[in-house]
Amino acid sequence: MFSVLRPFLFSLNPETAHDLAIKSLKFNFFPSKMFEVEDEQMLNIHLLGKNFPNPIGLAAGFDKSAEAYNSLLKLGFGFVEIGTVTPVKQYGNPKPRIFRLEDDRALINRLGFNNDGMETIKARIKSNSKKGILGVNIGPNKDTKSQKNDFCLGLKNFFDIADYITVNISSPNTEGLRDFHDQKKLIDLIGALNKVKKDNGTNIPLLLKISPDINNSDIPEIADTAIKNSISAIILTNTTNNNRGNLISGLKNEKGGLSGEPLNEISTNMIKKFYKELNNKIPIIGVGGVNSGKSAYEKIIAGASLLQLYTSFVYKGPSTAKDIKKELIQILKAKGIANIKDAVGTGA
Ligand SMILES: Cc1cc2nc3c(=O)[nH]c(=O)nc-3n(C[C@H](O)[C@H](O)[C@H](O)COP(=O)(O)O)c2cc1C
Repeated sequence: MFSVLRPFLFSLNPETAHDLAIKSLKFNFFPSKMFEVEDEQMLNIHLLGKNFPNPIGLAAGFDKSAEAYNSLLKLGFGFVEIGTVTPVKQYGNPKPRIFRLEDDRALINRLGFNNDGMETIKARIKSNSKKGILGVNIGPNKDTKSQKNDFCLGLKNFFDIADYITVNISSPNTEGLRDFHDQKKLIDLIGALNKVKKDNGTNIPLLLKISPDINNSDIPEIADTAIKNSISAIILTNTTNNNRGNLISGLKNEKGGLSGEPLNEISTNMIKKFYKELNNKIPIIGVGGVNSGKSAYEKIIAGASLLQLYTSFVYKGPSTAKDIKKELIQILKAKGIANIKDAVGTGA
């Protein structure tokens, strides 16, 4: 059905198409059975104290304001991450701010954390109890006096309703945010967040989402800081400011973060490097260009225990998670691997 709808959706500007998708998802009457696959138990994985039905998650940025997460879970995703949520509602950058690079199977976005703000989003989640694993991705407002304080507010507001919290220090569209990759700033930020956890008596997993644009030499420090400061998982990666050289689309020089196929190899390589540094002490969630069972498997053997995707969902539609799950199971069977967890890191 999506192949029939796609030309219409792609005739709209990307943000209008996205808003329409969110509106339609709210009325998702498809039974979840339609998106289950045979032998899905081969994809079950226990992580972060939870049983994930499968490792294919929807990445942050699609359901920024928590309007459709239960419908998205029904499409067969193993988990959904909402956000990035900021303390106060904000409009984001002027439109247009999402660009479809069809020939490159990619997107560029410079949305700038448009979302409904913490209070509204929290109330929305409370009134629509989650039917699966829900992560909340938090970040600071553009004009905040203290980005660190905004992160703490996000954690305080969501620790009791989320399954995990992602500390997003890696979006390229908020000034100064990526400076938190600096070791001193990172230790200070995680220290403040761990204090919030302690003060509130919560053990909610804190995940750190990393930029693909860091230097290789930064990896050991970031890995070490994450291990020593009880980070529960690392998400690799957010969108990139680089890698425009080989793109063919006329929109390739739009300012913003690049996602989709041109990010695939960059993020897989980063997963391999972090996997070696982390030495099995912290799991990795791999994201960037996952669009098939093959690309999913490549990230898993590179060291990712879970995966997320966004851009391929735009191009492939509602059956994306189901198709990837089917292909992944075929790959596991062909290789004689009983469960996905046995493949993690085997090619790193
Ligand atoms: C339009 C758009 C908006 C995004 N917004 C966010 C966001 O708010 N927070 C975040 O952490 N990542 C955001 N991302 C990044 C994705 O979560 C993901 O890390 C990235 O797109 C790479 O995955 P992909 O190649 O499967 O799209 C966004 C990506 C896109 C394309």
